[in-house]
Amino acid sequence: MADSNELIERHIRRGGSLLAVLHAIQDELGYVPPAAVAPLARALNLSRAEVHGVITYYHHFRTQPAAPVTVQLCRAEACRSMGTEALAQHIEAHTGCRFDAGHPHGATVELESVYCLGQCALSPALMVNGTLHAKVTPQKFDAIFAAASKCVEVTA
Ligand code: FES
Repeated sequence: MADSNELIERHIRRGGSLLAVLHAIQDELGYVPPAAVAPLARALNLSRAEVHGVITYYHHFRTQPAAPVTVQLCRAEACRSMGTEALAQHIEAHTGCRFDAGHPHGATVELESVYCLGQCALSPALMVNGTLHAKVTPQKFDAIFAAASKCVEVTA
């Protein structure tokens, strides 16, 4: 696996924009390490504040590795109208975690609120470890979560 400096160099050489390089780093490493900010700023002739501002503006970018099981629940209007808040309560009760509380070191589950996954007609929608699920019921969530947790146990 490449480190962030190698990724920065490779993508800058290809003329990549800040967003393109950030996506490449996160795709490869799973997050954008804070140590990548200074070399990125230097390579793109930006200030560190500008790079940091972009990373923190877009909710998509992580500055630490994700938990092994990451649930991203859509809480935008269409999903709200189809019961996403009741589903959120079920998910918190089922997992013992709280939404948007991050994940303390060693935690295996992280719950994140997101705002529209492009599946409004099939709401409520969520993603578990990057896989999209639509028309999610509490029972469906339990099955999805059990499968994701099982994969984590097997690969750990
Ligand atoms: S509002 Fe939830 S997917 Fe669009």
